[in-house]
Amino acid sequence: MDVTVDVDRLREEVREKYAEVVEHPEGTFHFHTGLRAARNNGYREEWLGGLPEEAVASYAGVANPFHWGLPLPGERVVDVGSGAGMDSLIAARAVGPDGFVIGVDMTPDMLDRAREAAAMAGVENVEFREGLAERLPVDKVWANLVISNGVINLVPDKLGAYRQIARALQPGGRVQVADICVERPVPESALRDIDLWTG
Ligand SMILES: C[S@@+](CC[C@H](N)C(=O)[O-])C[C@H]1O[C@@H](n2cnc3c(N)ncnc32)[C@H](O)[C@@H]1O
Repeated sequence: MDVTVDVDRLREEVREKYAEVVEHPEGTFHFHTGLRAARNNGYREEWLGGLPEEAVASYAGVANPFHWGLPLPGERVVDVGSGAGMDSLIAARAVGPDGFVIGVDMTPDMLDRAREAAAMAGVENVEFREGLAERLPVDKVWANLVISNGVINLVPDKLGAYRQIARALQPGGRVQVADICVERPVPESALRDIDLWTG
């Protein structure tokens, strides 16, 4: 796919924006964050109960990838753009000790928060890896389920990201993506405007 935005600058600005969400989760952003946003997006109380406050406070998803159901016990899950780790932790508890979850994110502050949250929750069947949606650091044909929440809209090469998801999945694997879709072509000038991507 032709990408007209300056990808390195975009990634840097996205990292800055989401580092701010970790630092000041109660701040004012162009998206909702935290427990209230999770409840509004249909997360059930039993999924949220017992999760560390830090993971929930920095939740910045646009919707709920578990709308279509939780992963099953024993499954392997990849969370693309795992942020502060709330969805990964919900998935890790659902898959149980025989399953495993890999969360991938490119923002070090988010990864630190997610790792702290997993340690606080005593969840051991999850690993947070630094990496890009466009180059998922996951073995091919590994996952039963790939989830993602609010991330692909931030990725210029969306087709590339979906190819990586397909590569990570086992035959018959599932994809549960919560994201923002536009139904009209985006003008070229808007595609180049990083402020419109991040804010
Ligand atoms: C809107 S937040 C959502 C975080 C998390 N999924 C949640 O629901 O709280 C977007 C996340 O995607 C990450 N991200 C953005 N572009 C990415 C990319 N190309 N590769 C990996 N992570 C990316 C950001 O660092 C950020 O943590």
